[in-house]
Amino acid sequence: MSSHTDVTVDYNYLLAKQIGKGNGPTLEEIEALFPHVTQILKALEDLRRLGQLSFRELPYLEEMAEPIMEAAAHYRSHYEDIVVLGIGGSGLGPRCLHEALCYYRPIADQQTHPRFSVIDNVDPIVWQQLLEKVQIKKTLFIVISKSGRTVETLAAFSFFRDRLIRHLGQNSYQKNLVIITDPETGPLCEIAQKEKIVRFPIPPGLGGRYSVLSAVGLFPAACLGIDIAALLSGARQMDKRCQETDPWNNPAAMSGLLHYLMATQYKKTIRILMPYSEPLDTYTEWFCQLWGESLGKRYNLQGEEIAAGQTPVRTMGATDQHSQLQLYLEGPRDKMITFFTLRDGNGEMIPPSYQEYDDLNVLTGKTAQELLAIEYRATEQALRKTGIPSLTITLPQLDAASLGQLFQLAEIETVMAGELYNINPFDQPAVESIKKYIRGLLGMKGFEEFKKEIESSPKNERYII
Ligand code: PA5
Repeated sequence: MSSHTDVTVDYNYLLAKQIGKGNGPTLEEIEALFPHVTQILKALEDLRRLGQLSFRELPYLEEMAEPIMEAAAHYRSHYEDIVVLGIGGSGLGPRCLHEALCYYRPIADQQTHPRFSVIDNVDPIVWQQLLEKVQIKKTLFIVISKSGRTVETLAAFSFFRDRLIRHLGQNSYQKNLVIITDPETGPLCEIAQKEKIVRFPIPPGLGGRYSVLSAVGLFPAACLGIDIAALLSGARQMDKRCQETDPWNNPAAMSGLLHYLMATQYKKTIRILMPYSEPLDTYTEWFCQLWGESLGKRYNLQGEEIAAGQTPVRTMGATDQHSQLQLYLEGPRDKMITFFTLRDGNGEMIPPSYQEYDDLNVLTGKTAQELLAIEYRATEQALRKTGIPSLTITLPQLDAASLGQLFQLAEIETVMAGELYNINPFDQPAVESIKKYIRGLLGMKGFEEFKKEIESSPKNERYII
């Protein structure tokens, strides 16, 4: 049984009993996977004991949070703007924490904290707009890159570093920079060492999309006044539940198993993420990277071609009921939905108005959150009736502890699904291939063949109209 502070996973409407045989698994089909899941849980515990599952350890590294909080307190009171330069997990984690926990703060409260931006692209319009928005001398740039050699991040770093030098001079621009990168290798690590720029390490073996609970997410979050101790404690709370050896009681094992089953046996190749909470929008963006990049693999660990994965798609409740639900209900039956809801029904009340109209009258006295809950239940029911599987993740409330649980649940669930697919959920070989073409086109030594390959596949003008 879960407690009232737990994030819960409700998979009732994924089961054949509710949505019809052929649309979702029976309890027997689920249990048939238990021996395999139990083996995986044991193997993961062994890996973690050997220190080879770094993301699982992050919530327990409380000592890591202390220097982060100390430094953040300084930056929070000395800078008006905090700007993260980072892409993939190095940008999405901080962006998601900000949007879920700060962006919707009351305006008066926001004014007591620095403003926040993430530059995760090389779009000149966005760069320019940022320069117009901030006072460069009062801006802290946090450069985040595990490898320290990601083109997009290095380009933004070079651009804004130049502006910092122009305003602050070659010898003191460094105080407006913090670098978060590998502790030992990479250009950013060397630059930080040489120029004595404040830096925080990303633990070895930790990939970008699993790094939100390291300095990658924690430092920007602490600069914004987010309670990072609560974030970590929420993650520990979930992590402990995910150590449970009985899959029925282990939320990550059960969710990983169900998604694997739905994708492989029920051909649900699309996973729709539908929060009924606007602040969770960027969380679903973060999740899309995690789920898509970790599981989308052509080959299994034996080198056999399996084209694994499920395409994650972001949708917003209730907004997209009026946009996408027609398709989900009556279009190709290749989708399953993950709803995100909040248990806490507080918030703005809808006041009485035009009581002679029943359409308006029925809204009177409900909170907006209660109305959202009704919208969710109605959508969930329409899907159930049509035989479309859905699963609901409920947060006790929107706070750091709940978000910590959500991150840890998502990461463990992803690794669990990856193990069932028998793929490596930690690499991204196809993304690496794009990086090689970019380096080739940029004229980097050692990547000439990639440029040549592009040049030897010319496009025919005839097919450009
Ligand atoms: O999950 C990953 O490892 C990647 O998607 C990275 O987050 C992304 O490529 C950025 O890499 P880096 O942090 O090295 O700049």
